[in-house]
Amino acid sequence: MARAALLLPVALLLCLALAGSAGAERKMVGVYELKNKKGDFSIKVTNWGATLMSVIVPDSEGNLADVVLGYDTIAEYVNGSSYFGALVGRVANRVAKGRFVLDGKAYHLYSNDGKNALHGRLSFSGSSPSRMDHDVIASLMISPSGFSKVIWTVKEYVPDCDSPYITFYYHSFDGEQGFPGDLDVYVTYRLSSPYELSLHMNATALDKATPVNLVNHAYWNLAGHGSGDVLGHLIQVFASEYTPVDSSMIPTGQIAGVAGTPYDLRRLTPLGSRINLVSGGGAAGYDVNYAVHGEGFTQVAFLRDTASGRAMELWANQPGVQLYTSNWLKDEKGKDGKVYQKHAALCLETQAFPDAVNHPNFPSEIVRPGGVYSHDMLLKFSS
Ligand SMILES: *[C@@H]1O[C@H](CO)[C@@H](O)[C@H](O)[C@H]1NC(C)=O
Ligand SMILES: *[C@@H]1O[C@H](CO)[C@@H](O)[C@H](O)[C@H]1NC(C)=O
Repeated sequence: MARAALLLPVALLLCLALAGSAGAERKMVGVYELKNKKGDFSIKVTNWGATLMSVIVPDSEGNLADVVLGYDTIAEYVNGSSYFGALVGRVANRVAKGRFVLDGKAYHLYSNDGKNALHGRLSFSGSSPSRMDHDVIASLMISPSGFSKVIWTVKEYVPDCDSPYITFYYHSFDGEQGFPGDLDVYVTYRLSSPYELSLHMNATALDKATPVNLVNHAYWNLAGHGSGDVLGHLIQVFASEYTPVDSSMIPTGQIAGVAGTPYDLRRLTPLGSRINLVSGGGAAGYDVNYAVHGEGFTQVAFLRDTASGRAMELWANQPGVQLYTSNWLKDEKGKDGKVYQKHAALCLETQAFPDAVNHPNFPSEIVRPGGVYSHDMLLKFSS
């Protein structure tokens, strides 16, 4: 992706969006903190991409560490292409050839690999930005990265209570990224005692059926971001099946057992122990979707850093979870002057199965008008 070319036009659009719309203050890009009463558990989020910027948790001795990768400034999030902490949508993960058929109609999405459609779309050549209406500006702001590259509205920010929370709202319009129908999207980040972070995401299809798959793309390193690789973390994934992919990372449609494969993480396993046996899209490491055990809200994974003792349980109500071990990170300048390398963190993205819209045997990710997509995640930290 032509990332460097992105920064300037988007920064310009930010100013326009702020100057142009009524209720501009609610759309101003800001950083918001949620903190527990004791002061040893806090997160920072921004309405740029509804992004989780930091998660600070103690170890058993009370040493605090920020356990997610990220950047210091919003400008770097605007420019970045690693999805640090981002809220990805309308459909996270891959859609084969950017195409699907829904109710007999074919849809084509903006392809975001190879040629960069974004650069051209963000050009103002020949038209005056001041005369563009809000929708035009909004559509110009669409990036191939979707919901993680737009400004969300801060609906509610309630920092001073026992369970502080913040709710972001985004209206995705008919045709955005090529998807059908208007969609109202909310995400709420909330802290609760003792050390719990929950995310509630929902999306309401207003007029047309559409696929929806929202994902939080936090990169976890329980030893602290920038502390080195996570190969020594112990991991457990509550799944006995996964969805194998072809060489372009598109599911074959098979739902295969993990038994006897390096994907078997049903018992607590050092992440690095078999990581050399797996690869995804040409890079060594895990990049795989698991079919999560059980229905409804259930435990998906457990993670522990043995050195600090920090641990994290992940619960969710989604059929799948993508385990991604930061296989593509290289010399990425992050927070506090840290530089992130390969396997500096891992992502556990609870989700619909990748390319579900093209696989009738996968759990459906279609939301019909009046229907509500609802995705809950709970992260329980301990030490
Ligand atoms: C934008 O991203 C590119 C690619 O990662 C990087 O080389 C460049 O330094 C970044 N620019 C800024 C201003 O962060
Ligand atoms: C979606 O979430 C928001 C914020 O948590 C909430 O106010 C709203 O009622 C939810 N919508 C639906 C349809 O559940």
